[in-house]
Amino acid sequence: MPKRIGSSNGQRPIASTFQIVEAYKTIRTNLLFALAPADNKVVVISSAEPNAGKSTVSCNLAITMAQTGAHVLLIDADMRKPSQHKTFRVKKSNGLSRILSGQADVEDCICREVARGLDLIPSGSLPPNPSELLGSDAMVELLDRLSVQYDYIFIDTPPLGVVADSLVLCSVSAGTVLVTRQGQTTYEELQTAIDSVRGVEGNLLGVVISDMRENPRSYGRYEKYHYYKAYDYSYSTAPAETADK
Ligand SMILES: Nc1ncnc2c1ncn2[C@@H]1O[C@H](COP(=O)(O)OP(=O)(O)OP(=O)(O)O)[C@@H](O)[C@H]1O
Ligand SMILES: [Mg+2]
Repeated sequence: MPKRIGSSNGQRPIASTFQIVEAYKTIRTNLLFALAPADNKVVVISSAEPNAGKSTVSCNLAITMAQTGAHVLLIDADMRKPSQHKTFRVKKSNGLSRILSGQADVEDCICREVARGLDLIPSGSLPPNPSELLGSDAMVELLDRLSVQYDYIFIDTPPLGVVADSLVLCSVSAGTVLVTRQGQTTYEELQTAIDSVRGVEGNLLGVVISDMRENPRSYGRYEKYHYYKAYDYSYSTAPAETADK
Protein backbone atom coordinates (compact mmCIF):
# COMPACT_ATOMS: atom_id res chain seq x y z
CA MET A 1 0.00 0.00 0.00
CA PRO A 2 1.74 3.23 -1.11
CA LYS A 3 2.08 5.89 1.55
CA ARG A 4 0.35 9.12 0.54
CA ILE A 5 1.04 12.73 1.44
CA GLY A 6 -1.04 13.78 4.45
CA SER A 7 -3.85 11.75 5.86
CA SER A 8 -7.56 12.24 5.98
CA ASN A 9 -9.14 11.96 9.39
CA GLY A 10 -12.63 11.89 7.96
CA GLN A 11 -13.35 15.35 9.32
CA ARG A 12 -12.15 17.69 6.64
CA PRO A 13 -13.14 21.25 7.45
CA ILE A 14 -13.25 23.62 4.52
CA ALA A 15 -10.84 26.49 4.97
CA SER A 16 -12.09 30.02 5.37
CA THR A 17 -11.33 32.71 2.84
CA PHE A 18 -8.94 34.22 5.35
CA GLN A 19 -6.99 30.97 5.60
CA ILE A 20 -6.78 30.61 1.85
CA VAL A 21 -5.50 34.13 1.31
CA GLU A 22 -3.01 33.83 4.16
CA ALA A 23 -1.77 30.49 2.82
CA TYR A 24 -0.99 32.04 -0.57
CA LYS A 25 0.66 35.03 1.04
CA THR A 26 2.89 32.66 2.99
CA ILE A 27 3.91 30.88 -0.19
CA ARG A 28 4.50 34.27 -1.83
CA THR A 29 6.76 35.38 1.02
CA ASN A 30 8.78 32.19 0.76
CA LEU A 31 9.05 32.59 -2.99
CA LEU A 32 10.16 36.21 -2.76
CA PHE A 33 12.87 35.15 -0.37
CA ALA A 34 13.97 32.16 -2.43
CA LEU A 35 13.99 34.10 -5.70
CA ALA A 36 15.82 37.16 -4.41
CA PRO A 37 19.25 36.00 -5.58
CA ALA A 38 18.02 34.42 -8.83
CA ASP A 39 19.04 35.84 -12.22
CA ASN A 40 15.62 35.31 -13.70
CA LYS A 41 12.25 35.17 -11.95
CA VAL A 42 10.74 32.31 -13.90
CA VAL A 43 8.95 29.77 -11.71
CA VAL A 44 7.79 26.39 -13.00
CA ILE A 45 4.79 24.87 -11.25
CA SER A 46 4.65 21.12 -11.69
CA SER A 47 3.67 17.90 -9.97
CA ALA A 48 4.38 14.22 -10.04
CA GLU A 49 0.92 13.08 -11.08
CA PRO A 50 -2.14 14.56 -12.80
CA ASN A 51 -4.82 16.40 -10.84
CA ALA A 52 -2.51 17.56 -8.06
CA GLY A 53 -3.65 21.19 -8.21
CA LYS A 54 -0.91 22.74 -10.40
CA SER A 55 -3.17 24.98 -12.43
CA THR A 56 -5.00 26.15 -9.32
CA VAL A 57 -1.78 26.95 -7.48
CA SER A 58 -0.27 28.60 -10.59
CA CYS A 59 -3.10 31.04 -11.14
CA ASN A 60 -3.56 31.89 -7.49
CA LEU A 61 0.14 32.38 -6.91
CA ALA A 62 0.37 34.59 -9.99
CA ILE A 63 -2.56 36.68 -8.75
CA THR A 64 -1.10 36.89 -5.25
CA MET A 65 2.28 37.97 -6.60
CA ALA A 66 0.66 40.61 -8.81
CA GLN A 67 -1.05 42.03 -5.72
CA THR A 68 2.36 43.23 -4.51
CA GLY A 69 2.40 45.63 -7.46
CA ALA A 70 4.72 43.38 -9.48
CA HIS A 71 4.09 42.90 -13.18
CA VAL A 72 3.39 39.19 -13.53
CA LEU A 73 2.91 36.81 -16.44
CA LEU A 74 1.26 33.40 -16.28
CA ILE A 75 2.01 30.98 -19.12
CA ASP A 76 -0.14 27.92 -19.69
CA ALA A 77 2.47 25.46 -20.90
CA ASP A 78 0.24 22.44 -20.48
CA MET A 79 -0.44 22.06 -24.17
CA ARG A 80 -2.03 18.65 -23.65
CA LYS A 81 -4.58 19.61 -21.02
CA PRO A 82 -4.70 23.40 -20.79
CA SER A 83 -6.98 25.12 -18.32
CA GLN A 84 -5.96 28.73 -17.66
CA HIS A 85 -8.01 30.06 -20.58
CA LYS A 86 -11.10 28.66 -18.89
CA THR A 87 -10.21 30.18 -15.55
CA PHE A 88 -9.70 33.62 -17.04
CA ARG A 89 -12.29 33.24 -19.78
CA VAL A 90 -10.16 34.04 -22.78
CA LYS A 91 -9.62 32.26 -26.07
CA LYS A 92 -6.87 29.67 -25.99
CA SER A 93 -6.21 29.48 -29.74
CA ASN A 94 -3.77 32.38 -29.89
CA GLY A 95 -1.18 31.22 -27.41
CA LEU A 96 2.05 29.42 -26.62
CA SER A 97 1.91 26.68 -29.27
CA ARG A 98 1.42 29.26 -32.02
CA ILE A 99 4.30 31.41 -30.74
CA LEU A 100 6.68 28.45 -30.52
CA SER A 101 5.76 27.12 -33.94
CA GLY A 102 6.32 30.53 -35.47
CA GLN A 103 2.70 31.09 -36.41
CA ALA A 104 2.05 34.09 -34.20
CA ASP A 105 3.91 36.94 -32.63
CA VAL A 106 4.20 36.90 -28.86
CA GLU A 107 2.64 40.34 -28.47
CA ASP A 108 -0.51 39.13 -30.22
CA CYS A 109 -0.84 36.18 -27.82
CA ILE A 110 -0.65 38.02 -24.52
CA CYS A 111 -4.02 38.50 -22.81
CA ARG A 112 -3.45 41.69 -20.86
CA GLU A 113 -4.69 42.36 -17.33
CA VAL A 114 -6.68 39.16 -16.83
CA ALA A 115 -6.40 40.23 -13.20
CA ARG A 116 -4.82 43.32 -11.73
CA GLY A 117 -1.14 43.34 -12.74
CA LEU A 118 -1.41 39.92 -14.36
CA ASP A 119 -1.06 38.99 -18.04
CA LEU A 120 -1.69 35.51 -19.47
CA ILE A 121 -0.36 33.55 -22.41
CA PRO A 122 -2.83 30.70 -22.98
CA SER A 123 -1.71 27.32 -24.30
CA GLY A 124 -2.63 27.91 -27.92
CA SER A 125 -4.30 25.24 -30.03
CA LEU A 126 -3.24 21.74 -29.06
CA PRO A 127 -0.11 20.90 -31.11
CA PRO A 128 0.97 17.42 -32.23
CA ASN A 129 4.43 17.87 -30.68
CA PRO A 130 4.19 19.59 -27.27
CA SER A 131 7.40 18.05 -25.91
CA GLU A 132 9.44 19.29 -28.83
CA LEU A 133 7.93 22.76 -28.61
CA LEU A 134 8.59 23.16 -24.88
CA GLY A 135 12.12 21.82 -25.25
CA SER A 136 12.94 24.04 -28.21
CA ASP A 137 15.37 26.94 -28.38
CA ALA A 138 12.35 29.08 -29.22
CA MET A 139 10.97 28.47 -25.72
CA VAL A 140 14.22 29.49 -24.04
CA GLU A 141 14.41 32.60 -26.24
CA LEU A 142 10.80 33.43 -25.44
CA LEU A 143 11.47 33.27 -21.70
CA ASP A 144 14.56 35.44 -22.12
CA ARG A 145 12.54 38.02 -23.97
CA LEU A 146 9.61 37.97 -21.55
CA SER A 147 11.88 38.13 -18.51
CA VAL A 148 12.82 41.64 -19.55
CA GLN A 149 9.16 42.70 -19.56
CA TYR A 150 7.92 41.00 -16.39
CA ASP A 151 8.98 40.91 -12.75
CA TYR A 152 7.77 37.30 -12.32
CA ILE A 153 6.73 34.59 -14.74
CA PHE A 154 4.78 31.53 -13.58
CA ILE A 155 4.56 28.51 -15.86
CA ASP A 156 1.77 25.98 -15.46
CA THR A 157 3.01 22.65 -16.80
CA PRO A 158 1.96 19.02 -17.34
CA PRO A 159 2.78 16.45 -14.63
CA LEU A 160 6.42 15.33 -14.57
CA GLY A 161 5.53 11.74 -13.85
CA VAL A 162 3.45 11.46 -17.03
CA VAL A 163 5.36 13.42 -19.65
CA ALA A 164 8.80 14.94 -19.58
CA ASP A 165 7.67 18.11 -21.40
CA SER A 166 8.57 20.48 -18.62
CA LEU A 167 11.95 19.12 -17.55
CA VAL A 168 13.72 21.51 -19.88
CA LEU A 169 11.84 24.37 -18.26
CA CYS A 170 12.92 23.18 -14.83
CA SER A 171 16.52 23.49 -15.90
CA VAL A 172 16.28 27.01 -17.36
CA SER A 173 13.98 28.56 -14.77
CA ALA A 174 14.85 30.13 -11.43
CA GLY A 175 13.19 27.17 -9.81
CA THR A 176 10.38 24.65 -9.61
CA VAL A 177 7.53 24.36 -7.16
CA LEU A 178 6.09 20.86 -6.90
CA VAL A 179 2.42 20.60 -6.04
CA THR A 180 1.18 17.54 -4.17
CA ARG A 181 -2.34 16.69 -3.15
CA GLN A 182 -3.26 15.41 0.26
CA GLY A 183 -4.40 11.81 0.16
CA GLN A 184 -3.43 11.43 -3.49
CA THR A 185 0.28 11.96 -4.13
CA THR A 186 2.47 9.14 -2.86
CA TYR A 187 5.84 9.79 -1.26
CA GLU A 188 7.38 7.62 -3.94
CA GLU A 189 5.87 9.74 -6.73
CA LEU A 190 7.05 12.90 -5.03
CA GLN A 191 10.58 11.54 -4.59
CA THR A 192 10.71 10.56 -8.27
CA ALA A 193 9.59 14.06 -9.28
CA ILE A 194 12.21 15.64 -7.01
CA ASP A 195 14.87 13.37 -8.51
CA SER A 196 13.76 14.39 -12.02
CA VAL A 197 14.09 18.09 -11.22
CA ARG A 198 17.49 17.57 -9.64
CA GLY A 199 18.50 15.31 -12.52
CA VAL A 200 18.35 18.27 -14.90
CA GLU A 201 20.06 20.50 -12.33
CA GLY A 202 16.84 22.31 -11.65
CA ASN A 203 16.38 24.30 -8.48
CA LEU A 204 13.62 22.87 -6.29
CA LEU A 205 12.01 25.88 -4.60
CA GLY A 206 9.57 23.92 -2.50
CA VAL A 207 6.58 21.65 -2.26
CA VAL A 208 2.98 22.80 -1.83
CA ILE A 209 0.39 20.45 -0.37
CA SER A 210 -2.97 21.24 -1.89
CA ASP A 211 -6.45 20.28 -0.79
CA MET A 212 -5.13 20.00 2.72
CA ARG A 213 -7.74 20.50 5.38
CA GLU A 214 -6.80 20.56 8.96
CA ASN A 215 -7.84 21.93 12.28
CA PRO A 216 -9.45 25.30 11.45
CA ARG A 217 -7.78 26.80 14.50
CA SER A 218 -4.34 26.26 13.03
CA TYR A 219 -4.14 28.82 10.27
CA GLY A 220 -3.58 26.94 7.06
CA ARG A 221 -0.10 26.73 5.77
CA TYR A 222 -1.15 25.80 2.33
CA GLU A 223 -3.68 26.34 -0.33
CA LYS A 224 -7.24 25.35 0.40
CA TYR A 225 -10.64 24.81 -1.07
CA HIS A 226 -12.66 27.23 -3.16
CA TYR A 227 -9.59 29.14 -4.14
CA TYR A 228 -11.06 31.38 -6.79
CA LYS A 229 -13.55 32.86 -4.40
CA ALA A 230 -10.72 33.95 -2.17
CA TYR A 231 -9.83 36.80 -4.44
CA ASP A 232 -13.13 38.21 -5.46
CA TYR A 233 -11.79 39.66 -8.64
CA SER A 234 -13.54 39.72 -11.94
CA TYR A 235 -12.59 37.47 -14.79
CA SER A 236 -14.98 39.25 -17.06
CA THR A 237 -12.46 41.03 -19.26
CA ALA A 238 -13.75 38.85 -22.08
CA PRO A 239 -17.17 37.33 -22.65
CA ALA A 240 -17.64 33.88 -21.13
CA GLU A 241 -18.31 32.25 -24.48
CA THR A 242 -14.75 32.95 -25.62
CA ALA A 243 -13.47 30.32 -23.19
CA ASP A 244 -12.30 26.96 -24.49
CA LYS A 245 -12.02 28.06 -28.11
N1 LIG B 1 -7.14 22.86 -2.95
C1 LIG B 1 -8.12 22.29 -3.61
N2 LIG B 1 -9.19 21.80 -2.97
C2 LIG B 1 -10.17 21.20 -3.65
N3 LIG B 1 -10.20 21.05 -4.99
C3 LIG B 1 -9.16 21.52 -5.67
C4 LIG B 1 -8.06 22.15 -5.02
N4 LIG B 1 -7.14 22.50 -5.96
C5 LIG B 1 -7.67 22.09 -7.13
N5 LIG B 1 -8.86 21.52 -6.97
C6 LIG B 1 -9.70 20.92 -8.02
O1 LIG B 1 -9.04 19.74 -8.43
C7 LIG B 1 -9.09 19.61 -9.84
C8 LIG B 1 -7.68 19.57 -10.39
O2 LIG B 1 -7.06 20.82 -10.08
P1 LIG B 1 -6.04 21.47 -11.09
O3 LIG B 1 -6.65 21.54 -12.45
O4 LIG B 1 -5.55 22.70 -10.47
O5 LIG B 1 -4.93 20.35 -11.06
P2 LIG B 1 -3.78 20.08 -12.11
O6 LIG B 1 -2.65 19.48 -11.36
O7 LIG B 1 -3.50 21.29 -12.89
O8 LIG B 1 -4.44 18.98 -13.02
P3 LIG B 1 -3.90 18.45 -14.45
O9 LIG B 1 -2.80 17.48 -14.14
O10 LIG B 1 -5.11 17.82 -15.05
O11 LIG B 1 -3.41 19.65 -15.21
C9 LIG B 1 -9.91 20.79 -10.35
O12 LIG B 1 -11.23 20.37 -10.49
C10 LIG B 1 -9.79 21.81 -9.24
O13 LIG B 1 -10.91 22.64 -9.20
MG1 LIG C 1 -3.46 21.67 -14.95
